[in-house]
Amino acid sequence: MDNKRGQWGSNFGFLMAAVGSAVGLGNIWGFPYKMGKTGGFAFLLIYLALVLLVGIIVMLGELALGRKTGKGVMGTYLEFSKKYSWLGYMSVISGFLILSFYSVLGGMVLRYAVGYFLQLIGLDGFAGQGTGFFGYLLYDYKGILLFYALFMIITVLIVMGGIEKGIERFSSIAMPALFCILVFVIIYVAIQPGAIDGYKFMFMPDLSVFSDPQIGFFGVFKAAAGQMFFSLSLGMGCMMTYGSYLSKNEHLQRNSIIIPFADSIVAVMAGMAVMPACAAFGVEYNRGPGLLFASMQTVFDNMGGFGTVVGFLFYFLVLIAAITSSISILEVCTAFQIDKDMAKGKEPNRKKVSLIYAAIIFVFGLPVALDALGSGNALIKAPYELLGFEYKGPGFAMWNDCWLDLYDLIAEGILMPIGALVMSVLIGWVWKTTIIKDECEKSGDKFKAYKYYDFCFKFVVPVIMAFIFYAQLVDFFG
Ligand code: PFF
Repeated sequence: MDNKRGQWGSNFGFLMAAVGSAVGLGNIWGFPYKMGKTGGFAFLLIYLALVLLVGIIVMLGELALGRKTGKGVMGTYLEFSKKYSWLGYMSVISGFLILSFYSVLGGMVLRYAVGYFLQLIGLDGFAGQGTGFFGYLLYDYKGILLFYALFMIITVLIVMGGIEKGIERFSSIAMPALFCILVFVIIYVAIQPGAIDGYKFMFMPDLSVFSDPQIGFFGVFKAAAGQMFFSLSLGMGCMMTYGSYLSKNEHLQRNSIIIPFADSIVAVMAGMAVMPACAAFGVEYNRGPGLLFASMQTVFDNMGGFGTVVGFLFYFLVLIAAITSSISILEVCTAFQIDKDMAKGKEPNRKKVSLIYAAIIFVFGLPVALDALGSGNALIKAPYELLGFEYKGPGFAMWNDCWLDLYDLIAEGILMPIGALVMSVLIGWVWKTTIIKDECEKSGDKFKAYKYYDFCFKFVVPVIMAFIFYAQLVDFFG
């Protein structure tokens, strides 16, 4: 391993960073709200099945390829052949798109955390708007830009610190803290009268959504699949990049199970914080972006005096989750450039590279920051107006109106599934699964369940992915 690239100090540190990447806004916001929209228990069931059949397989593929080559996503594919460079570019573009909208949302979370902090010390943290603050914030462009920039600065400062001293050190403290706060919030929510309806919604076996003509099985399946890739940080080389900093002694197979397992537990726990809280105070679960902000603020407001403390802790926890994810996305881009420079024999300059990429991504995210999340009458025109495609109406797809949804659709809906599909086909059929087995066994451990992984790489992942694309096409063309 070339130390110029960096290396994890310990497997625990790696796990905290990798679980930190996986646990993010996708768990705390995306999971509860998609679950709220697509039938609760039915969504949970399909989600967990997809994690077992696709998630852990693709996770191992990425970790093993990254560690084998010791390179980020582009470097890894180039190691096999120049003709795969498009896969590397696709991953970096996904990183650009995701980090840009992710940081805008991260900035909003930071704004809410600061707001609650000010309330705690007796000041008005929400500009006199109370629970109407979300509607105000969307059009407070200066405020949004300021907090967007601050969030990006925090992200870049950690990445500049390097693998062990920046990303690992931060994650090793932040992730256990996140877990403790989450447990506290869950317990506090559980003692609120009326919380029980939220648990019922999550855990009572009810599959009636499958016969709902608006959603149906396809609708639930598509939502769960997109969520799974996004939540596990798969399909854009993030785990490949993190795998490239792992030592050959570590047990890859075990790691590839721990990360999805921990991520799914935190997603369910986040659901157990958000949904019963909404149920207790009569707030709807399925309100999209508003869930994390407007709905939760209403919840904390109704909790009485202690609600301010819980509100602050909640947004602080979400902030940690968002930062440990955003650093992993910026690292994909940083490693891309570092590997490129090293291949040319140049001395890598991590600080400069991460700063430049963060600045470019910041510019990419400006439409997301300035369009009031598609609420209309914003500073920047909607995608369909600016890019000149035909408006299909708000009922058809949100990406007509909202830059965040457009970026998300391209990354989570298209590029990430393609990335994961092509990687699985390459591993299953072109390079053969033995390259994964050989890499796993470098630690001296036997590759258990090889037959299961082999079968999944060859058949299960490609078939499920084809199904996802089919569902997506049906969505596009009506
Ligand atoms: N997994 C993160 C979440 O659930 O919020 C988001 C994410 C991080 C996506 C890193 C992709 C990635 F490479």
